[in-house]
Amino acid sequence: MANKSTKKIGVLRGMETTFPDGLIHHINETYGNDGIHAEFVQLDAVRMDGDPEYAVILDRISHEIPFYRSYLKWAALQGTYVVNNPFWWSADDKFIDNVIAERVGVAVPKSLILPHKEHLPNTDETTYRNLKYPIDWEAICTYTGFPAFLKPFDGGGWRGVTKVNNLDELLAAYNDSGTDCMMLQEGIEYTEYVRCYGIGREHVRIMKYNPAAQDFARYFDVPQEPIEPALFEKMERDVLALCTALGYDMNTVEFAVRDGIPYAIDFMNPAPDADYHSVGQENYEWVVKTMGQFLVEKAKEEREIPAFSVDDALEVV
Ligand SMILES: Nc1ncnc2c1ncn2[C@@H]1O[C@H](COP(=O)(O)OP(=O)(O)O)[C@@H](O)[C@H]1O
Ligand SMILES: [Mg+2]
Repeated sequence: MANKSTKKIGVLRGMETTFPDGLIHHINETYGNDGIHAEFVQLDAVRMDGDPEYAVILDRISHEIPFYRSYLKWAALQGTYVVNNPFWWSADDKFIDNVIAERVGVAVPKSLILPHKEHLPNTDETTYRNLKYPIDWEAICTYTGFPAFLKPFDGGGWRGVTKVNNLDELLAAYNDSGTDCMMLQEGIEYTEYVRCYGIGREHVRIMKYNPAAQDFARYFDVPQEPIEPALFEKMERDVLALCTALGYDMNTVEFAVRDGIPYAIDFMNPAPDADYHSVGQENYEWVVKTMGQFLVEKAKEEREIPAFSVDDALEVV
């Protein structure tokens, strides 16, 4: 049972069942006698003057619930170590992450973003005065080539992802994109595809993955040949570079390999799938154990309340 000196780890979960439950069980069983207690976070109103109680919180759901995100930012300002950092996560989008990836030596498909197709709520014509029309589709297609992929810049779970083979298909997909901000990307025609966990900006697990298989079989219905060692090392390095540059302690990175070069396709997954039934027993056990160990390490560190120093800035005024 938790007492006053016990360090608490909270898990904020959504619909998923196996991973958060398994993680809490694993942490309490393995580290329970070591002053650590894990549990699900339970919230009502969040007051400025409250105490978050947790040394560490693992966030699996704040991308869907703004109240959770604000709570986590508040907890972080009270010294709770939040995985993943809610400020970094809030600042991200897929397009800008591609730009950052390139800066840290990771190959990415040529990518661009397009103005929203439909007007957003509470806007009118004048809100869009900064946009030039007609859009120069010719130049866009020349840049990315075909096939290309059109996807929301903040998507996940394959929502709104369309492969387009020519301008007509691109325009049809764009016309269907509603109020989303869409990213268009060069399609990487790959010989191998992998999905990697990156944990604690230190541990990497490379898993063969077949996006063409049915979703329950994507981790199983894969070619069995081993990955060539130099490619394996490059992918390990790239996962750590991406997680470090983007500030993620838990992430998955997908690579499509073309001509021996791994291109990072999808690497903004701060609450990545870790369900027993989709990733399979070995990957599941690895992610529970590795994540558990990282959260415990963080829980044992001294809690630090971030300081805001405005004195220098005020003196300049
Ligand atoms: N540029 C690309 N080149 C090749 N395949 C792609 C590309 N972009 C997306 N895909 C395919 O579409 C799938 C879903 O796209 P992804 O970017 O992973 O979106 P989500 O974040 O919704 O999972 C990928 O797993 C991959 O199979
Ligand atoms: Mg994906």
